Amino acid sequence: MEPDTAPTLSPLPTSALLELIRRRRSIKQAQLRPDPIPREYVEWMLEAANWAPNHGASEPWRFTVFAGEARRALGESFARSYRLGIDPQKYNPQAEKAQLERVWLAPVWISIGMQPGGHHPEWEEVAAVGAAVHAAQLVAASLGLGAFWTSGMPVLHENTANFVGLKAPARLLGFLYVGYPAIPWPQGLRGDWQEKVAWRWG
Ligand SMILES: Cc1cc2nc3c(=O)[nH]c(=O)nc-3n(C[C@H](O)[C@H](O)[C@H](O)COP(=O)(O)O)c2cc1C
Repeated sequence: MEPDTAPTLSPLPTSALLELIRRRRSIKQAQLRPDPIPREYVEWMLEAANWAPNHGASEPWRFTVFAGEARRALGESFARSYRLGIDPQKYNPQAEKAQLERVWLAPVWISIGMQPGGHHPEWEEVAAVGAAVHAAQLVAASLGLGAFWTSGMPVLHENTANFVGLKAPARLLGFLYVGYPAIPWPQGLRGDWQEKVAWRWG
């Protein structure tokens, strides 16, 4: 049965949403203020994440939130992962210290886990987690927060995955750290979307 009226999107929310999507920014830890953020803000981010599209209702995203003193153990885990994962020829005590201390630069660190549902290819579960993180980042931006997805070696290392309680086939996909910017809100950089799109329109 045809609906009585064609479905429409209200123009105001659409333009506001597009503007938010354009304005969202990843802000590096060194450019954040360490000031705490309200727990409620993080809850809104994670609720948004939970509405991400996913195949077969697998809802594969798994998050652990670290704030306050809980970050100390996380920094220790990053440092240990660095020691375990680095080529001994390349070991640098300053780099280990940076892993230990980086957690104090952003007030909230969220591990990004993927728990496969077992019925669909892993890439679909990873894609769903990516969509979930983007939703969380949009809410962060709407609150004036920068949110950065980081995925360096110590962050992804098995030791860090164990620390946050992820066991295969679950995977750790990185961390999202969040905080108020210490710099003016950055400009985004993107090429023209039309150059990435081919049309076969009718
Ligand atoms: C899955 C994923 C992992 C990323 N890992 C890193 C990383 O480890 N280091 C880094 O500098 N940027 C990383 N980035 C890129 C930044 O998070 C950010 O998206 C990028 O700098 C573009 O900035 P914008 O989000 O403000 O447009 C990653 C992005 C994604 C989607």
